[in-house]
Amino acid sequence: MPSKTTTAALALLATTASAQLYPGQSNLNHTCLLQKPLLSCPEQDPTVVDSCCVETFGGLLLSTQFWSTYTGGESSGQFLPTDTWTLHGLWPDFCNGSYTQYCDLTRQYDPIPSPNTTTGLPNGTAVLPYTGPNIGTFLEPFGKHDLLSYMNTYWIAQNQDNPGFWGHEFSKHATCFSTFNVPCYGPQYREHEEVVDFFETAIKYYQRFPTFTWLAAAGITPSNSTTYSYADILKPLREQTKAVPFLGCTGPRFNTTPQGSNSTDTGFTVLSEVWYYEHVYGRPQEMNVVPVNASASYLTNCAKSVGAIRYPERTNGSEKVPSVAY
Ligand SMILES: *[C@@H]1O[C@H](CO)[C@@H](O)[C@H](O)[C@H]1NC(C)=O
Ligand SMILES: *[C@@H]1O[C@H](CO)[C@@H](O)[C@H](O)[C@H]1NC(C)=O
Ligand SMILES: *[C@@H]1O[C@H](CO)[C@@H](O)[C@H](O)[C@H]1NC(C)=O
Ligand SMILES: *[C@@H]1O[C@H](CO)[C@@H](O)[C@H](O)[C@H]1NC(C)=O
Ligand SMILES: *[C@@H]1O[C@H](CO)[C@@H](O)[C@H](O)[C@H]1NC(C)=O
Ligand SMILES: *[C@@H]1O[C@H](CO)[C@@H](O)[C@H](O)[C@H]1NC(C)=O
Ligand SMILES: *[C@@H]1O[C@H](CO)[C@@H](O)[C@H](O)[C@H]1NC(C)=O
Ligand SMILES: *[C@@H]1O[C@H](CO)[C@@H](O)[C@H](O)[C@H]1NC(C)=O
Repeated sequence: MPSKTTTAALALLATTASAQLYPGQSNLNHTCLLQKPLLSCPEQDPTVVDSCCVETFGGLLLSTQFWSTYTGGESSGQFLPTDTWTLHGLWPDFCNGSYTQYCDLTRQYDPIPSPNTTTGLPNGTAVLPYTGPNIGTFLEPFGKHDLLSYMNTYWIAQNQDNPGFWGHEFSKHATCFSTFNVPCYGPQYREHEEVVDFFETAIKYYQRFPTFTWLAAAGITPSNSTTYSYADILKPLREQTKAVPFLGCTGPRFNTTPQGSNSTDTGFTVLSEVWYYEHVYGRPQEMNVVPVNASASYLTNCAKSVGAIRYPERTNGSEKVPSVAY
């Protein structure tokens, strides 16, 4: 007789199998070198091109990074790498800038689904919390201890353990890439192979964008006694990437701060995120990318007034000098 968990898992599988990106997709003949590496946007038709070799679902790639000042897990050895922004994820938006999430619930490894339905609406399909072995353990049978150690250095969660965050990134976002679909890996697919592939790919993109170094070269370094302007932060990033990234801020709105008390600028004032946008030829894994600007309607939520933005120093004791190279 199956255990309670097995029964529950089977029931879950049965109700969610149809949540795969392309149900019934064959695992044969995905030899991408024999195919044309078409551009991911405008959207390609998966009934005409091989969705394993061309990104046909989420053609607008966002390589995203965080600047945060603490992890909340310092007491258990979870630190931020000095002089480095941390990896957030690699996201597949639709070419028009909208997106979906949790596209294959048979690969739900996120212990804290957010949102908790596929649409984010109460009537969407429920995304149940994952309670199995954390996604970091998936790397062990592949002997990827070095990858795990890189991820524990640069792919850092806030107020959550790192593997839970990686599981969130994988299940919410990576399952919405056509090229990380399980059938793409052929009949000899090894369980979780695409998880490893996604982690490595997200890291390859992350390495292309050394945000801290680019900002520092322009004289923009974390400081709790200086403020910066949106335009000054954007400039070196735009010059380096040949495109306009999205800059994200948190903290108080400028017009609620003493400095902005007479201002109508409602942008946020603490620098916290950057999203680099790209289209890609062929598989995102090969990185034949074309940089593109962030959506003109959503370039930033940061305040644009002169000197409105803080780029805070990390909290004392929250940083560690990385022992693994970027
Ligand atoms: C795979 O390719 C072979 C050789 O081109 C072809 O005969 C076969 O029909 C293809 N199978 C599928 C499922 O695409
Ligand atoms: C954006 O593209 C997706 C995928 O083709 C489509 O489902 C969605 O309706 C589009 N959204 C808008 C606002 O056009
Ligand atoms: C779900 O709810 C939204 C908004 O409440 C509504 O627009 C949509 O039609 C509903 N979808 C279904 C499938 O009921
Ligand atoms: C999602 O979260 C909301 C708010 O916490 C809760 O009311 C709702 O029941 C949850 N839905 C599911 C499917 O878990
Ligand atoms: C806001 O305006 C008042 C009145 O004109 C002025 O006294 C004050 O210095 C201004 N504050 C700032 C931060 O510019
Ligand atoms: C991207 O933004 C830059 C700077 O605002 C602008 O000069 C350029 O034309 C934009 N590129 C495209 C393709 O829209
Ligand atoms: C810098 O300021 C932030 C708050 O914005 C604080 O969390 C951090 O601890 C400060 N860092 C140092 C080194 O004082
Ligand atoms: C952080 O440490 C520096 C020197 O190590 C010290 O000057 C500063 O006061 C500390 N900041 C906080 C918020 O404790």
